[in-house]
Amino acid sequence: MSQADDTAGNRRDFLYYATAGTGAVAVGAAVWPLVNQMNPSADVVALSSIRVDVSGIETGTQLTVKWLGKPVFIRRRSEEEIAEGRAVELSDLPDPIAQNANLTGDVIATDENRTLDEAGEWLIMMGVCTHLGCVPLGEAGDFDGWFCPCHGSHYDTAGRIRKGPAPTNLPVPVAAFLDETTLQLG
Ligand code: FES
Repeated sequence: MSQADDTAGNRRDFLYYATAGTGAVAVGAAVWPLVNQMNPSADVVALSSIRVDVSGIETGTQLTVKWLGKPVFIRRRSEEEIAEGRAVELSDLPDPIAQNANLTGDVIATDENRTLDEAGEWLIMMGVCTHLGCVPLGEAGDFDGWFCPCHGSHYDTAGRIRKGPAPTNLPVPVAAFLDETTLQLG
């Protein structure tokens, strides 16, 4: 049973008992339609996974969406950003691990291992600084990627930490394209 199912089960139980507690007004057969109506709908249960239409994201820009209460950067990288990310020597990376939830094992943090597509156009990352959780600013910092203004962490165009106190690269969450313009997170 997944965590979402589990949560839904707990919520159903809670709603059942809560409703039973108000049985004085909602009695007999009337209770069940009420309980059904109050059950979380499928999309609420599926909040651990969301779909995003990315068709409006221009090359060289990003969309920030909120997912599981946190910002997620969906960046459509330009040729320059891709080239810059791919030119980086691995020995220059403070965190050599890709931090990509879509890849198994501790694969190395090449630019290719950070993006969702082979061409390297789509970079999806949690928009939360790995130091103490501030939201980094895009197209900023010494490495043309992101800059966290809280304590000065610089990330490159692949979201890899390059300078400052943040210990690891910005994490890439579980994500996949369902079709050309629909991205699923989670
Ligand atoms: S929270 Fe980003 S550098 Fe400290």
